[in-house]
Amino acid sequence: MSSSAEPQPKLFTPLSAGDIDLRNRVVMAPLTRNRATPGSDAPNALNVAYYRQRASAGLIISEGTQISQQGQGYIWTPGIHSPAQIEGWKAVTEAVHAEGGKIVAQIWHVGRVSHVSLQPGNKAPVAPSAILAPTKTYLESGFVPVSQPRALAAEELSGIVADYTRAAENAREAGFDGIELHGANGYLIDQFLKDGTNRRTDAYGGSIENRLRFPLEVVDAVTKAIGKGRVGIRVSPVSPANGVSDTDPQAVFDRLAAELGARGLAFLHVVEGATGGPRDIAPFDYLALRRAFGGVYIANNGFDRETAIEAVESGRVDAVAFGKAFIANPDLVERLKRNAPLNTLQTETLYGGDARGYTDYPFLAEKAA
Ligand SMILES: Cc1cc2nc3c(=O)[nH]c(=O)nc-3n(C[C@H](O)[C@H](O)[C@H](O)COP(=O)(O)O)c2cc1C
Repeated sequence: MSSSAEPQPKLFTPLSAGDIDLRNRVVMAPLTRNRATPGSDAPNALNVAYYRQRASAGLIISEGTQISQQGQGYIWTPGIHSPAQIEGWKAVTEAVHAEGGKIVAQIWHVGRVSHVSLQPGNKAPVAPSAILAPTKTYLESGFVPVSQPRALAAEELSGIVADYTRAAENAREAGFDGIELHGANGYLIDQFLKDGTNRRTDAYGGSIENRLRFPLEVVDAVTKAIGKGRVGIRVSPVSPANGVSDTDPQAVFDRLAAELGARGLAFLHVVEGATGGPRDIAPFDYLALRRAFGGVYIANNGFDRETAIEAVESGRVDAVAFGKAFIANPDLVERLKRNAPLNTLQTETLYGGDARGYTDYPFLAEKAA
């Protein structure tokens, strides 16, 4: 209970991100759970229940959702490129909206982080350069090394931009409030941005300007299609996720943030530090990034109640995204408000499976009862 003597922390107050109005600043981070319908990769009733339970977030960012079959890197992740997938997502967005929540689709092309068995015609996954990722993917048989990718021809890029555009349009058709471009964690956009994975010698590689070219072509196409006020992007400047690295991330991402700011994007969502790991893995000035962008800044990675309240209160960030805490606590916002204890995360049910470890985490009242 809040009293007049104790004003509620700013974390629990509304925020406008472009055309999207959040009722609080507690954001649900994108979380892959590999529970879409096998075969169609369409969201189903279980996925609807999961998102409905979490609708009190100020904004839900959906799990990574492939824009095309080529963009898929893991089994049973949902897509947003077929009619069945759009229909499946409609039920999710309707459920979230019925609870008064907001939800954007995280649209995703994994680039080299894939396996031939998931690719059209069992062909090689695609990447800026033909460099094998030192990482694993998740298949029906469990975790296996990803496949050797081939380098994309420059002529293929417009087709991928078109896939992003169609995915953004499909997301709107499915009732999403907008989209988040997945530019983080070593997937296709991040692979283009960083010089460890982008060794191209054409207009899409080399200088920072060139490495930004494909990501900004995607940004320009999707904002033209659905409006800049409904487009955000997630980045992870220093995260080594999926084996990416850059020799000067500050320069790359400050420039990117300035370009995004000039385009008036709804929000910039930043994984600060190593995704799911140390926040201080490498020196990086996130305040400079935020200033370069100039719009709504959502921070993520390793926040708890205290650090989230402090980060928003101080004005360093506009909102905080929680990942693992939202998996284990459907009513995370209420728990943070009341400073109530959190449920423990079950790690063995993260990827794939059924309702267990997905929709059966208790709400506060249930636990008390
Ligand atoms: C099970 C699981 C699935 C994830 N899936 C995604 C995803 O689809 N897209 C993404 O950008 N990040 C994904 N992440 C990263 C989280 O969004 C987040 O950055 C990370 O968990 C750190 O935040 P936290 O400390 O609040 O959990 C995933 C993390 C976990 C644990």
